[in-house]
Amino acid sequence: MSVVAVVGAQWGDEGKGRIVDLLAAEADLVARSQGGSNAGHTVVNASGTFRLHLVPSGIFHPHVTNVIGNGVMVEPQQLLAELDELHAHHVSTDSLVVSDRAHVVMPYHKLLDRLEEGARGAKQVGTTGRGIGPAVQDKVARFGIRVVDLLDPAVFREKLHAVLSLKNRVLTGVYGVEPLREEDIAEECLAAGARLAPRVGDTVALMQRAVADGKRVLLEGAQATLLDVDFGTYPFVTSSSPTVAGACVGLGLPPQSVTGAIGVYKAYLTRVGSGPFPTELNGTVGDRLRERGQEYGTTTGRPRRCGWFDATLARYSARLNGFTSIALTKLDVLDALPTVKVCTGYRRGQARWDAVPADASILAECEPVWEELPGWQTPTSDCRAFEDLPLNAQRYVDRIAALVGLPVALVSVGFAREQIIQIGVG
Ligand code: IMP
Repeated sequence: MSVVAVVGAQWGDEGKGRIVDLLAAEADLVARSQGGSNAGHTVVNASGTFRLHLVPSGIFHPHVTNVIGNGVMVEPQQLLAELDELHAHHVSTDSLVVSDRAHVVMPYHKLLDRLEEGARGAKQVGTTGRGIGPAVQDKVARFGIRVVDLLDPAVFREKLHAVLSLKNRVLTGVYGVEPLREEDIAEECLAAGARLAPRVGDTVALMQRAVADGKRVLLEGAQATLLDVDFGTYPFVTSSSPTVAGACVGLGLPPQSVTGAIGVYKAYLTRVGSGPFPTELNGTVGDRLRERGQEYGTTTGRPRRCGWFDATLARYSARLNGFTSIALTKLDVLDALPTVKVCTGYRRGQARWDAVPADASILAECEPVWEELPGWQTPTSDCRAFEDLPLNAQRYVDRIAALVGLPVALVSVGFAREQIIQIGVG
């Protein structure tokens, strides 16, 4: 039996989707547990290039059962659009099961996401605008509409009527915008619900059965640890818990069922949206990383902020999650650089910090303590074994492993499936 979590260890966009895509070949089940269509997983394979937001990355393997768990915020129209796109490329989606307990992202959530961001003025979080925050607010406030509600028009209409009358008072009274029409929303959502109905099921029972039967299960993280609502750079975070513990809650799995946890780290660091970023590079090196790494948001197209690898943040996420190994992605993006830097700690005034402060404004004031390593200035994209990597690239990987305190099990040197060097998965 194995239940392995694949979790983003930085600020997202580490390349989790392609690591899951690779490991799914050996899995029986792949499950998403949190986030929603704010996530964007790019998978490149023989069928094409796919940008998935809600569908698990295991969908490209016909033998794999794919689960959207109770913790995922489901935008039905987005999910249907993804399924249509996959069908258009002859990818079967028959194996997908959506939790009846998952909450629905409603049209008013997307509208409120934009309006709330606008109201924050200069203090914007820089959300993806996919309505996730407002949908989570409703979930916790017990105003949420769940996937199970979409299956019963009478129940759905009753719940919608109650919640929309409140939302419309906020929309008109607080934000001064037009109210939304109940009938339009009801028709749109019920039509989507009818299409999704055959895929809706009790995924909690399904997951627990899979574990009991000794199936090989992969838990596919979305977003990443430094965006966690509790442990990330609050308030510049998402509204879920993209950690191993969060995956258990988002799927109804007991924590002791998890047998391994792979932390996915990019060989450098990126972030979209606002918030502190001590190793950010604002000059030409940052621009080179962005262009070479094609660092533009999958969901919003925004240019990503780029910087050097931050081992202090990396250790923090490793400990929070209990990672058992590292997948290091996009090493090839550093190929041309004469030197590479790693942040090993922080300095603030006279003080040296090795921890991550709770206050985002303090983290913003931290100066990195640098370690500079020689670059390799040799292409790595054709390397297929660790020993094929130039010596300085091997040293860089080894240094990251030592600083984080975990073995590196996978190294990616390009976008294709075969461009992932497997050193041994923990
Ligand atoms: P939200 O999740 O749309 O509310 O956005 C909150 C913050 O999380 C913003 O800084 C987003 O840019 C960031 N974020 C959300 N999803 C992702 C993701 O999949 N990758 C990277 N950043 C993300």
